[in-house]
Amino acid sequence: MDQLTLPHIPVLLDAVLDLLRVRDLPAGYFVDGTLGAGGHAAAMLSAAPLSRLLGLDRDPAALELARARLAPFGSRATIVHASYEEIGRLIPEWLKDQFAAEKHITTEHIPAVNDFTGVDGILLDLGISSMQVDDATRGFAFMQDGPLDMRFDPTSGDITAADIVNTWETDELADILYRYGEERNSRIIARAIAAARPISTTRQLADIVAKAQRGPRQKIHPATRTFQALRIAVNDELGAVERVLPIAIDHLRPGGRLAVISFHSLEDRIVKQTFKLEATDCICPPDLPTCTCDHHARVELVTRKPVEATDAEIRLNPRSRSAKLRVIERLDYSNVHDGV
Ligand SMILES: C[S@@+](CC[C@H](N)C(=O)[O-])C[C@H]1O[C@@H](n2cnc3c(N)ncnc32)[C@H](O)[C@@H]1O
Repeated sequence: MDQLTLPHIPVLLDAVLDLLRVRDLPAGYFVDGTLGAGGHAAAMLSAAPLSRLLGLDRDPAALELARARLAPFGSRATIVHASYEEIGRLIPEWLKDQFAAEKHITTEHIPAVNDFTGVDGILLDLGISSMQVDDATRGFAFMQDGPLDMRFDPTSGDITAADIVNTWETDELADILYRYGEERNSRIIARAIAAARPISTTRQLADIVAKAQRGPRQKIHPATRTFQALRIAVNDELGAVERVLPIAIDHLRPGGRLAVISFHSLEDRIVKQTFKLEATDCICPPDLPTCTCDHHARVELVTRKPVEATDAEIRLNPRSRSAKLRVIERLDYSNVHDGV
């Protein structure tokens, strides 16, 4: 399939391949925790001809696309319906299966095969795909009419956006609009939502929010921030990123890299702060005369500033405008006392 005919164009693709050193690791072991349509994953498997990839997504519809896209790579791609939060269990299981199945690959292809405890690269391309936005039945889009769902995994029993708008206290609703949507009119909008209950469709909600907005006209659609906030809350997106980063580092081999692409400042802040903390030895307050924290850096920063899309990429794929890519590299385990 040609990249341009696919519904979702992978962002910052060259930078991801370069910074995960995919071409230098022809038999590398890679994990794509957010497979989507499989664009990044297909490029990784093509660039490293003996590589293996474990791909995960919470969305069964995305996995169907990814399965078709990655079919030409046969058993080199393992696709699992799971949250990336499950990599702590899934990566060791997958590596064990790979080694059991790959006796024919000579050890020169497998770095440090005897004490191999981690993978060469992990990619997390956070957020939502174009297919999810474009499918009105998923409830992510304020420009189309559909049920207020917004779950990445609609087969889960998790709460939906409709549950939140129809049952949460006005204050709780206002809080998430403010925190996750950075919506200045959060209280006014939350009150308007509560007054209009029950609300069942995206168009109904978008109209209520548009009418409630105060202040000067904004460049973005008046419901953009509300929809972003609800999506983040429904999928606990910030919690998931916070939880997965240390686990991802646990499962990198020394020299292995973690690349994270985020699309809004709340996510990027978590990535930036976690990477900084994980790249720092002592984290004692600066006025303490000796170190008491026993904190050891587990990684070094590969990108000091986030990599962003060029104007040319933004013209081709406007979604890339807000993308920020940060990458870290796992240090030798000897730097860390407990060996993880
Ligand atoms: C931006 S898209 C990825 C696009 C992909 N890189 C490509 O090239 O097609 C993000 C994907 O992450 C998935 N996702 C979001 N949170 C997830 C989680 N906690 N675990 C696994 N997948 C998740 C979404 O369902 C969506 O398909």
